[in-house]
Amino acid sequence: MDAKVLYWTGAFVNLGVIVLLAFRGIAQVRRGDVEAHRRSMLGGAALIVAFLVSYVFKLAFLGREDLSLWSDLHVNNLRFHETCVLAMLLAGGFALTRARAMRGKRERSRDPADPPASPAVVRWHHRAGFAAVGASVLGLLTAGLILAGMYARS
Ligand code: HEM
Repeated sequence: MDAKVLYWTGAFVNLGVIVLLAFRGIAQVRRGDVEAHRRSMLGGAALIVAFLVSYVFKLAFLGREDLSLWSDLHVNNLRFHETCVLAMLLAGGFALTRARAMRGKRERSRDPADPPASPAVVRWHHRAGFAAVGASVLGLLTAGLILAGMYARS
C-alpha cells in the first residue's frame, strides 16, 4: 500500500477513536462522573496533539498530496474537512479553558460545599464542547470521503 494512503488510514482510525472518546465523555458527565469525563476529553485532546505532531513528520518525509489528480468534489470536501478540523481545535481549546475556570467549583467537584461556577462559564463550556464534538463528527465523515478517494486513485 502507498505510504501516504497508509498514513491517512491511521489518521482516520485516530479521528474515529477521538469521536468515540468524545461520545463516551458526554455519557460520563451526564451520569455525573466528571473525573471520567475529564479523562476521556483529555485523552481525545492528546490524540489530536499526536496527530498534529505526526502531520509535521508526514510533510517532512512523505510531502504533500498532489491535488491536481483530485476531482473538484474531493478538493471541496477536503477544504470543508480542514475547516471542521480547525473548528474542532478552536472550540475544543476554548472548552478546555472553560473547564479550567470550573476548578474548585461545585459543578466540577460535585461537592455542594464548594461555590458555584459562573453560569456563563458552564454555558460556554457546553456550547464550545458540543461545537467541538459536532465538528469532530463532521471531520470524521468528510475524512471517510477523502480516504475513499485515495483508495480509488491508488
Ligand atoms: C475539549 C474537551 C472537552 C469537551 C469537548 C467537553 C464537552 C462537554 C460537553 C458537551 C458537556 C455537556 C454535556 C451535557 O450536558 O450533555 C460537558 C460538561 C461538563 N464538562 Fe466537559 N468537555 C471537555 C473537557 C472537560 C474537562 C477537562 C473538564 C474538567 C473536569 C470538564 C468538565 C465538565 C463538567 C464539570 C461538565 C458539567 C457541567 C454542568 O453542567 O454542571 N470538561 N463537557
